[in-house]
This record gives sequence, C-alpha cells and structure tokens, in this order.
Amino acid sequence: MDFPAPPFHGLPMLRPWTLLLKDQVRIAADSPRYMQVAHGLIHEIERGRLLPGEFLPSSRELAATLDVNRKTIVTAYDELIAQGWLASAGTRGTMVSLSLPRNEAATRPAPPVMATEADDTEYPYLAAPDRPIAVPQGSWRKLDEGISDARLFPAEVLARAYRKAVEDASRANALHYRDPRGTLPLRNAVADMLRRQRGLTVTADHICVTRGSQMGIFLTARILIRPGDAVLVERLTYEPAVAAFRACGARIVTVGLDEDGIDVEDVERQCRLHRVRAVFVTPHHQFPTTVSMRPDRRLRLLDLARQFAFAIIEDDYDHEFHFSAQPLLPMASYAPARIIYAGSMSKLLVPALRIGYIAAAPRVIDALAYQISLIDGMGNSVTENAAADLLNSGEVRRQVRKTAPIYAARRDAFARSLEEELSGLVDYRVPDGGLAFWLRFRDPAMLDRIEAHAPAIGLSFAPSRSYAVEEENERGLRIGFASLTEQEARDVLRALRRCVEGTA
Ligand SMILES: Cc1ncc(COP(=O)(O)O)c(C=O)c1O
Repeated sequence: MDFPAPPFHGLPMLRPWTLLLKDQVRIAADSPRYMQVAHGLIHEIERGRLLPGEFLPSSRELAATLDVNRKTIVTAYDELIAQGWLASAGTRGTMVSLSLPRNEAATRPAPPVMATEADDTEYPYLAAPDRPIAVPQGSWRKLDEGISDARLFPAEVLARAYRKAVEDASRANALHYRDPRGTLPLRNAVADMLRRQRGLTVTADHICVTRGSQMGIFLTARILIRPGDAVLVERLTYEPAVAAFRACGARIVTVGLDEDGIDVEDVERQCRLHRVRAVFVTPHHQFPTTVSMRPDRRLRLLDLARQFAFAIIEDDYDHEFHFSAQPLLPMASYAPARIIYAGSMSKLLVPALRIGYIAAAPRVIDALAYQISLIDGMGNSVTENAAADLLNSGEVRRQVRKTAPIYAARRDAFARSLEEELSGLVDYRVPDGGLAFWLRFRDPAMLDRIEAHAPAIGLSFAPSRSYAVEEENERGLRIGFASLTEQEARDVLRALRRCVEGTA
C-alpha cells in the first residue's frame, strides 16, 4: 500500500482532534443512508485524508454529527469492514484498514495528501535546489561536520532550565509576543559571555538572537546584499552560507586560501575587479580546513574592509573548543564597527535548541530584528530564557569544562585510528581546535569509491564536493570527531577504508 500510515497511538479516546465529516458525507433522500455514509468514507480514504490506522469517530458520535440514526452508522461501518476498507479494533473502536482493498483506487499512485488538484503548484515559485535538504531517515550512521556529543549533555539540566523558564514567564505574564531581537536575559547573557570570554565590547543592544547562526547569516545577507553585489568567500567554505548569499542575489567570487587562512592579496585583487559588499570568513577554525587565520592577515583584511567599504561576516561557529595554545580573539573584538559577528550555541549546548546570535552595531541589530518581525514575529522566548539560565548559572561553562578534555582525547584517538586505517591514503592535520578533521584523499578516485559504497553500508556524510564553490576545485571529507567515541571512530574509519578497497 502506498499510503503513509499515521503513527498508531493506542487508545482512540486519546485522539487529539474531532474528525470533521459533516461536509464530506452528505445525506440525501435518494439512496440508502448507510450507503451514502459508506461512500463518503471511501472517498475520504481514497483521497488520502483518512489514513490507514486512523480511528473513526464512534458510531454514536458520527450519528450525532450527521444527524442520522446510530444504526445507520453501525451498518455503514459493518459494510466497510466486510469490504476491507475499515477494521474493527475491538473495544478501541473502528479504524481505517492497514491494508486497503486492491481496487482501482489502490493501483493508482498515492494521492497527494496536501494538494488535491494536479495543477495546484503550477505557479512560479523559488524551487529548492536539486539536492537532499534533509538528513536521511532511518538507521543511517550520520557523520557530522563537527558537533558536540549530545549524549554528554544531561537532559535533566535542560529540562530544569525549561521548566524554570516556563514558570517564570507564566508568573510574569510574559508568554506573549516580545522583542524580535530576543529576550533581554539571553541578550545580556550572550553579551556578557562575549565581553568576558572573547573580548568584544558589546551590550545587549549589540545582540540579536536568531534561530541558529544560519538564520543570522541569511538575515545578514538579506539586509546587506543588493542583487549583483559581489560576496567574497574562500575557495573552500561553508556551503549553506554561500547558498544564503546567493538566495539574496549575491554574485559569489572565490578567493585563495592556504595554511594561514584567507589569501588577503587575492581579496585586494578581487576588490579592484568587483563591487564587493561583504567577505565571509571563519577565522577561528576555517571551515572546512580547520586552520586559523594568521594575525597579520586579520589586520590586513580589516584594512581592506575600510579601504573598499565592505562588511566582514565573521562566522565563529565553534569558538569554545580550542585545544592548543591560547586561541586568538575574534576579529570583532578589535574592529566592532566593520564586523558582523555570527555566533552559535549549537556546539555549546545542542543544535536542536536553535540558538544563534549576531553581534553588530545597534543599527544593524535593528535592521535584523525588523527582518525577524517579518518572518516569525519574534524568537522562541521560552528556549531563549532557558538558555540564558544555563549561561548565567554557569551550567554551560561546566559543560564545556567537562567535555573539552573528552573531545581532546577523542581528537587524539581519531588521529590514531586515521593512522591505522587510512595511512598513506589521506592528508590531514590534527586540528588545534574545532570538532572536526579535514581529510584530503590523495586520489580522488578513492572519494568516488567511498561515495559509491557508503550508502550500501548505511554511512552518510556531507558530499566531498560540497566545500568547493567551484566544482572543479578540491574535494575532501570533513568528519566530526567529538560525537564519536574511540570505538565508533575506529569503526567509521575502518568502514571508509573498506569503501576505498571495495570490500565494504
Ligand atoms: C561554519 C558553520 N557556520 C554556521 C553553522 C550553523 O550553525 P547553527 O545554525 O546550528 O547555529 C555551522 C553548523 O555546523 C557551521 O559549521
């Protein structure tokens, strides 16, 4: 059967919604009433509104809705059970059969659940690109590009913070529409963290909370870019940011990149050729290569930003995990006026919270907040205040202190397994910080084999071509180590080797 079955929720008494059938089952005078009810229900099943496994109203309820005798409904249900459209679930009631009769309807393609007319979507719309937009469902092992291990984050700590946030907001009658910049407790807590830990001179007025830093990057593009403006990105970079710039009309121009970060001479060259509106960089841990931008290049990039009047979008997505010497402060700490600084709590807490933020001049923050007011009015104030509580209570700091040594050990274990499993096949450097390795395979044919075999063994990861803006440029795999135990890392790397050897 083609229909998607709804989740089976046990007792029908727990149905959350009353099923409206009054308009679908019209009772006329010309044929037996139970047949009219039966036809109405078959029609609703055929068009995909009533799904297999779904419970129908009780005969008493439906009789009252349709204003017919209860016996009429009982007869209609009995008839449909006999035909295989419905099934009795004993005392729990009557449900749509899990295997519908194979008649003409069953051999037709499954009806679209939302669109009832074939030409419903035949208007011009901005289509999604031709690539998967979601992670695969099912029991895949999804390798990430460097996130913390959510298994190490205590659920009860988060639950407590949420409970407190809900109770406080309810007591203060603050569960209604609020400031689109985000709640004041979170903007204060983020500003406090940025001042103390990262050297930024900011207050809450410099902070706009977003649903993840991806939204912050998109909104920044939206307020900054006019169609045709050039945005400079390194030749290997973070594709979702590039996609956001393009979606806002940017012309993407790539510049060079080496062991010390962005090639600033190339930036200058491109500024002489194009009207450059913004430069996107990840100076702390370059995405995907993990290298840090050298201090003199940071200063030179800032000089160029002043000279050519472009904005620097500094994406500091995993600031807190740095394992070697004292890390450099963000560029935003010494040139606040030129920089739009995007931060995220996805690595600090968990991605599912969807908390990111932009730190920038207040007028930029107001422009972003206006965009937020157009999209969703405001952020999720309960989640924001729960996150503020976790920051203010020191829980986040405790979590970083607890996990940093674990991640450092996992990084070393990953490097050892790399040596054991893929030695001679890949070039890599052990990253000073961040939560991922950048693996460059010496022979691109190996990547072809890995990508061909991985689905068969249930392994999923970002495509090796997703990092280079221009397709003919380098490929590689960026694999997060922090979410993998030593054993898991070994298993994953061994699986990659088998893919290379063709023995997976
Ligand atoms: C370079 C980079 N920027 C931004 C993000 C977006 O993070 P989020 O939207 O979860 O805050 C990520 C996520 O992994 C990232 O790797």
